[in-house]
Amino acid sequence: MKIKATIVSDNCVYHLPGAVAEHGLSIFLETDRGNYLLDTGQGKAVVNNALVLGLDLTTIKGVILSHNHWDHTGGLGPVLDLKGAVDVHAHPDLFKESYSVAENSVRYIGVPYPRPLLEAKGARFRFNDQFHEIEPGMWLTGEVPRRTAYEVGDSKQKLKSGDGFVKDDIRDDQSVVCETAKGLFIILGCCHAGIINTLSYVEEKMGRRPIYAVIGGTHLGPVSDEQKTKSVEALKGFDIERLGVSHCTGQKTASLLAAAFGQRFFFCNVGTAVE
Ligand SMILES: [Fe+2]
Ligand SMILES: [Fe+2]
Repeated sequence: MKIKATIVSDNCVYHLPGAVAEHGLSIFLETDRGNYLLDTGQGKAVVNNALVLGLDLTTIKGVILSHNHWDHTGGLGPVLDLKGAVDVHAHPDLFKESYSVAENSVRYIGVPYPRPLLEAKGARFRFNDQFHEIEPGMWLTGEVPRRTAYEVGDSKQKLKSGDGFVKDDIRDDQSVVCETAKGLFIILGCCHAGIINTLSYVEEKMGRRPIYAVIGGTHLGPVSDEQKTKSVEALKGFDIERLGVSHCTGQKTASLLAAAFGQRFFFCNVGTAVE
């Protein structure tokens, strides 16, 4: 398929008058099979930045949610207000009760809207936890099997369980895979499943093929130094022509990746487009 992915919401904006940054991620996907919006950011940036970038949110055929967190689903309200009825592809755990639990704070970080409100605004939820094709040449990974020992994620992320909390493995985390003339194009949301687990699963499902580009949130920012080092090392083993990082990668990890990938590395912030 032909696809152009443009970052609409991200933690950083450079030299783009009128655009705003927020902690979040949203990527507009223009394809020859129709337009999609992968994630919606926090909700402060998506409508404004789409206008600045000349991207028409009313043209989307569907919304894809990489997982339930507020910084990816908060823009669903404003997007539905513009678009009206639309398919929303997500994992069946979308409405689970996620919290960030630190020593002195407990914060709800799940979808910031009740499901009936989103349905009243036009959301038609299409839940699926399997690797599946949503357009010819475009797949969602669904739930990604955890195979590496070191991709343990972020210990602050919890699920409500009775009066307490248990670790949230964020099983709902998924990515987008497109087959293009240049190779595979893999678009990550937050990649809580781990970038190596995700790329290995894509390889298992699609066979070992050249990857033209991997872009999006890697969630390598908030993890241990051990996970960072091992993931960056393992990533070098994949045949990736371009690596563009966003959002939860963080500047420190981005600099590690820049050193490891050289000219193949780029920052993927608001306005960056990959075709
Ligand atoms: Fe997340
Ligand atoms: Fe995120």
